[in-house]
Amino acid sequence: MRTLITEKELNAGVNRLAAEINAEYGQRPLTVLGVLTGSVVLLADLIRKLNMPLRVGVLQARSYQGATTTPGSLHIDADMMPDIHDRDVLIVDDIFDTGRTLLGVLNHLDSLKPKSVKTLVLLNKQGRKEVEVEPDFYGFSIPDQFVVGYGLDYQDHYRNLPFVAALEPKEIDQLLS
Ligand code: IMP
Ligand code: MG
Repeated sequence: MRTLITEKELNAGVNRLAAEINAEYGQRPLTVLGVLTGSVVLLADLIRKLNMPLRVGVLQARSYQGATTTPGSLHIDADMMPDIHDRDVLIVDDIFDTGRTLLGVLNHLDSLKPKSVKTLVLLNKQGRKEVEVEPDFYGFSIPDQFVVGYGLDYQDHYRNLPFVAALEPKEIDQLLS
């Protein structure tokens, strides 16, 4: 496992993202929606640095099933979400990879008639995009590698690492055997 983004760099990145969100919305009330489970660490760190009247909610989106790192079909569970009708909404997710998750979430929220929706991700993976949308805000651009830590998992492991690390293909094989 090779560290890609250190704890200190993550902290600086989240500070910068928070400053961008504070500048964007000023004192307008905002609803932040974390996409479970990968966003939880970023969500906790980010919301404590936001200055506007804030509501926080979560929804679940799953696109990767089982051991595979190629996307399956997207399942969205929005039962836990607060009402977003006529609200300014910021979706927070861990990583933009193919973009299918964010697109699916955006399509779902659209039917609930929010006032506005913007998207924020910690990591923007290069060279994998399969959709037209892009995140409005992102912390770090990373190469096409499988990463874990700071909320990101490999088969539900490593979310608790305080840094972001790249998993080598042979390490993935070892974990599978
Ligand atoms: P997308 O729909 O292809 O953009 O994938 C987004 C979701 O896939 C993320 O929210 C993650 O849960 C997962 N994912 C994509 N790339 C990685 C990675 O490198 N490490 C861990 N999870 C990833
Ligand atoms: Mg995941």
